[in-house]
Amino acid sequence: MKEEEIHYNYYFWGPLLFKATVNDVDLKKLKKICKKRKDWDYRHNLAGVIDNEYEIDRKEFINIVRRYISAYAQAFKLYYGKEMPGGLNIDSAWVNYMKKGESNPMHIHLPCDLSSVLYLDVPDELLEEQRQFTGKGGGPGSISFFNQCPAPGFVGQQVFKPKTGDFFIFPAMLCHSVATFKSDIERVSIAANFSFRVVDENNKPTDISPDGWQIRQKDVWGG
Ligand SMILES: [Fe+2]
Repeated sequence: MKEEEIHYNYYFWGPLLFKATVNDVDLKKLKKICKKRKDWDYRHNLAGVIDNEYEIDRKEFINIVRRYISAYAQAFKLYYGKEMPGGLNIDSAWVNYMKKGESNPMHIHLPCDLSSVLYLDVPDELLEEQRQFTGKGGGPGSISFFNQCPAPGFVGQQVFKPKTGDFFIFPAMLCHSVATFKSDIERVSIAANFSFRVVDENNKPTDISPDGWQIRQKDVWGG
């Protein structure tokens, strides 16, 4: 006798953590807009224990990565079951030149809706250091995203050893941290913050204010 087939559903929870791979042509263009300009020092806005973090021209950045943002919008629709609420405004973008001994403690990005990190240059020495690492966890130079406290049966953490070209986009309030490394190299990444361009009933963009973002989060994500 044929056994009765069991029908079931299961549900993906938590934030959309998106990763694309940026091609070499675009990486080259991105490198050109990154400079260690002392007058563009961006450290006062950032949590990183990193000496060299500089603002970059956010319009130039978005122009180069526009196709990847479109791919994100597709993923958004699949993941959340609805269109992304309007377009994306880019609020800020900066480049991190990370050297040995530096790190980035657990943090979120505010006030904005989405954040991203794009790895411009991850030298081979760091990949080798990761291969040699015998400890637990993500190891040298890894990035970890935390959705909740650890619990049995929960998928609450995602850990990556980033490679050149990796481009992550995620909700700005998703906690993340970056582990230090020992290799005598410089790892270069670009980070950026975005806000959804939500319009009011008169089709006018509603402004984000540092105090108002929590209300807007409800508009964007529901709940
Ligand atoms: Fe960050």
